[in-house]
Amino acid sequence: MQKTEKFFIQTFGCQMNVYDGWRIATMLEHHGMVRTDNVSDADIIILNTCAVRAKATDKVFSALGRIRRAKKPSALFGIVGCVARESGADAFRRIPDLNFVLGPQSYHKLPDILQNPDTKLLNIDLGGLEKFDELPQMERSPRVAYIPIQEGCNHCCTYCIVPYTRGREISRAYNDVIRDTIHAAKTGAIEICFLGQNVNGYKYTDETGHTYRLSDLIRETAKIPEIMRIRFTSSYPTEMTDDLIEMFAIEPKLLPFLNMPIQSGSQNILTKMNRPYTLELYCDIINKLKIARPDIQISSDFIVGFPGETDQDFAETMRIAQKIKYINSYSFKYSPRPHTAAALMPNQVPEITKAERLAKLDSYLNDVQREFNESCIDKTLLCLLEGPDKTGKHLIYRTPYMQQCIVEHIENAPELTDIKITAANKASLRGKIIN
Ligand code: SAH
Ligand code: F3S
Repeated sequence: MQKTEKFFIQTFGCQMNVYDGWRIATMLEHHGMVRTDNVSDADIIILNTCAVRAKATDKVFSALGRIRRAKKPSALFGIVGCVARESGADAFRRIPDLNFVLGPQSYHKLPDILQNPDTKLLNIDLGGLEKFDELPQMERSPRVAYIPIQEGCNHCCTYCIVPYTRGREISRAYNDVIRDTIHAAKTGAIEICFLGQNVNGYKYTDETGHTYRLSDLIRETAKIPEIMRIRFTSSYPTEMTDDLIEMFAIEPKLLPFLNMPIQSGSQNILTKMNRPYTLELYCDIINKLKIARPDIQISSDFIVGFPGETDQDFAETMRIAQKIKYINSYSFKYSPRPHTAAALMPNQVPEITKAERLAKLDSYLNDVQREFNESCIDKTLLCLLEGPDKTGKHLIYRTPYMQQCIVEHIENAPELTDIKITAANKASLRGKIIN
């Protein structure tokens, strides 16, 4: 193997990519390399990419342009993840000196480029779960351990490139997930976040014919003494089955916070998005969740300006946002993506209309988020330490609702502690640790 000593990795996009980034770093460390934050010092440069919106893909290619100029002439550079799968060999045409293009299910092949640095490595196959078996375990787990339980998505929303980039849905073996969860707990994890593009669709049938669901994973994980908090993301509304809803009632370690994207409040647009649930059903699920766990709060993703979205459709999105009062949401302008049906639909909405609708929705969602944060003042919340802030003068904790809570820096701060909330704005809370 060529002596390659330092690697640089930059991750874009979702939690699954963050997880993939950790695994890639661990794999390279096992090959005797050390991480550097300096591109011009690196022997191998990896961009771990997101393709969900056109802007995300553009960002990757402009970063590649910058890296090309800054890197050592001998350094290898390439992309892994969803843009690799989206662009395939075309990435080599756009950036001819690129060394490797590896899809989200083939990044474990990265060491091949170290063995054959003079070749170009292209692998965007959908290899299923192979990568999970081939990659080394992380030696130390972060306090919040992200554990992927399924990969890919069968929902095929008409706007979404993920079923193309990450493939059909596959659930990991129950025993493998539990093994990884125990390993995380024994090496430092306090919180487990189960990950999947369609995480609550998790379904694994073992050789005896027994089928395991996400509720089984939660029940088993809650028995691990080191694990104090459990959550999962991202959920599809109609996969929110009664066994999973019941977990919110009976399992106190499961946090009272759920990301369950609605995307649009217009029945007509939901149908065109191929999200075939009714608004009534969606609201019924939320009602059941609130009965199970009265303090539960919901977050959502929204897309505005989907092809054919009228002012009336958008008004219905505003109405559902007002009804549900999501405490934290992500909203996006619809972005036409290759390999998706919606990109070919008529009546694409002009950019200016999308921007106006997004500004209106965002302004409302921000108001609700600020109101919710303010409603936490004087309450005591059990919070998990994230680490010091940039100045080093404060510590950042996460509340059970994933709000950022800032406290004064103290030595030997507790990892999990009650914090009395003293102030709030849209972005964060402030508080005092209660001993
Ligand atoms: N369930 C997935 C969702 C992946 S995409 C998960 O693992 O999180 C994340 C969000 O991006 C979606 O919920 C959707 O709101 C948004 N999105 C997906 N495709 C998009 C597109 N073409 N244009 C704008 N937003 C999009
Ligand atoms: Fe994408 Fe829809 Fe699946 S948003 S990841 S196709 S649920």
